Amino acid sequence: CGSDDASGEGDSGGDGDSGDDGVQETTIKFSHVVAENTPKHQGALATKEYIEEASDGKITVEIYPNSSLFGDQDEYQNLVSNNVQFIAPDLSKFVGNNPQFNVPSLPFAFDNDAAAIAFWDGDKGQEILTSLTDDGVLGLYMWPNGGKHLTNDSNPIDSPDDLEGLKFRTQGGQVLEAIYTTLGAGSESIPFGELYTALDQGVVDGQENTFSNIESKKFDEVQDYMTVMNHTRVDYAIFTNTEFWEGMNDATREIVEAGVEAGTETARAEAKALNDGGYEIIKERGDVEIIELTTDQVQAFRDTLEPIYNEFEDEIGADVYEAVRSANE
Ligand code: LMR
Repeated sequence: CGSDDASGEGDSGGDGDSGDDGVQETTIKFSHVVAENTPKHQGALATKEYIEEASDGKITVEIYPNSSLFGDQDEYQNLVSNNVQFIAPDLSKFVGNNPQFNVPSLPFAFDNDAAAIAFWDGDKGQEILTSLTDDGVLGLYMWPNGGKHLTNDSNPIDSPDDLEGLKFRTQGGQVLEAIYTTLGAGSESIPFGELYTALDQGVVDGQENTFSNIESKKFDEVQDYMTVMNHTRVDYAIFTNTEFWEGMNDATREIVEAGVEAGTETARAEAKALNDGGYEIIKERGDVEIIELTTDQVQAFRDTLEPIYNEFEDEIGADVYEAVRSANE
């Protein structure tokens, strides 16, 4: 530390490390809605650890999991107001801002995490992630969770007809709604923090989620069946408030940026293992009857849901579809 003269003489192009001002004492709040043993929380923890260590404790990162600070309904607004500096919401929750955020809900769009990552790291994905700048919000990096599976009461699901008359909770968005309509089911968007109770009380018959979310929130405790589908995905991006981001001095931002990169690396590296582990725990608990579909059974769902691509082509864009396709190659 030391220098208290603030004159930054000799800026040679603003490449950090100018030495005119050191790391700023800062508290950063990171709010999210899921439990601790999930890819998102592990990514948030890695971000915190990196930043606090690299800044010698000058920067503190407070993580608020389980909707304990803000939930689905209010985290975005509070990011816009800079009451929280990082959130990492399910991208499908931004469809009201830009319908292209429906991409994770397109049926069977991505073969695996790597393909989803390739899409969001590519030109189209980046364009979508940075489309919230009018709100003063910046999308930094995509963090994967994984493929979603159905859990439900009433009857086992192994064919498209089996959803007839059931009602499912969704994360929101026109494409998820269309999926359930196509399958003869109803749907309702409910915040994640209210989902366990909604399932327990029978407000809805079922929901779709990743193994890590199902396991960590114990949805299997209040459902009878789980069908392993991988038909849609939960993927996140870490979003920040632009004014906060740009207001940091170079020394501070360099550390925070590197922290976000460390978190991204961890979230991406651990997503699959956390979901595989979640699946094992759900099996061990034995609360749900598990239906693993055969290739033919999956194909029946693919065929039934295929028309959704045409339905949304104008809104989402043929160029986005093309980028999704090439991300799988
Ligand atoms: C959900 O609402 O089911 C998920 O999007 C929650 C999350 O953030 O993973």
